[in-house]
Amino acid sequence: MSERGTTKFQINLRRHLRERGVDPDLIHLICEIAKSSNYVINAIRTGDLGVAGTSNLYGEKQLALDVLADRIVTKRLKHSGVVGNVFSEEADDIICMSENCDGLYSVAFDPLDGSSIVDVNLAVGTIVSIFKGCNLLQPGRKQVAAMYILYGPRTTLMYSTGEGVHEFGMNQLMEYTLINENIQIKPKATLYSPGGLRNLFTPAIEEYVRQLELDGCKLRYSGGFVPDINQVLIKGTGIFLYPHLQGQPNGKLRLSFELNPMAFLVEQAGGAASDGHGPILDRIPETKDERAPIFIGCREDVAMAEEIIGRYSE
Ligand code: AHG
Ligand code: MN
Ligand code: MN
Repeated sequence: MSERGTTKFQINLRRHLRERGVDPDLIHLICEIAKSSNYVINAIRTGDLGVAGTSNLYGEKQLALDVLADRIVTKRLKHSGVVGNVFSEEADDIICMSENCDGLYSVAFDPLDGSSIVDVNLAVGTIVSIFKGCNLLQPGRKQVAAMYILYGPRTTLMYSTGEGVHEFGMNQLMEYTLINENIQIKPKATLYSPGGLRNLFTPAIEEYVRQLELDGCKLRYSGGFVPDINQVLIKGTGIFLYPHLQGQPNGKLRLSFELNPMAFLVEQAGGAASDGHGPILDRIPETKDERAPIFIGCREDVAMAEEIIGRYSE
């Protein structure tokens, strides 16, 4: 815990990790990823918002910013010297950064989540999932750390290494100092964030959303996964869903670099994350670009989703 006499606001990221006895190489890796945000911020603020003229593995048009953010983070991972394999949303294949990756870390990341809203100046983020060793196709429960950086009116960083979820803010020196420790989510939501086209909702999802509204949940949806999940963590309440849809049985979001890291953080905060049938973190990924439906946030509302989906056998 923070040393006596220092206010928690003076605790920077590296010190917070050290106080929790995190492995020095993992501290170095997390701090390197945090450092890359200084350059991503600059790219977002001043960079070209146009298209890069290329597409990613998902056939999504890449923005120059997607590619630039990918390059910035990938370079820092490479120079960290503690990374084995890397999978980025913007790269077709897994990148091997070290011949022998035993004892090293492997990283799956989304360099810029929310690229479809960065042109309208809404908040976007970088999402990172970290495993020990070479294998990136492990169940999410095996992650040793997960983090995101949120580029909003303020730049904040959220991380967990399995001992609670902690929020940091970027100060004038572009350093991250502690804002919130051991964040906890309440059992029941008062906000909900429904992704996906409404006219493609299945009967179970229609009933679920109707029930959330009957329970008094307010609709809050920005179109950015990072700010929408950040809202659940900071408000301590909320349920985000990007469900299975008619014609889209796996929803939209990707398991390895969007759902697993966010599920790890939300579970560490006392919430839950499900694909509608069971915990996201228990799914054994078959491919690195696997998508899955997601219900994530307050555990009572996640349980209700599973109950309704089960009742409709969807
Ligand atoms: P990305 O920009 O990395 O492709 O991710 C965008 C995702 C996520 O941020 C958000 O929850 C979802 O797309 C929004 O999808 P819709 O535009 O279909 O609502
Ligand atoms: Mn994304
Ligand atoms: Mn992205």
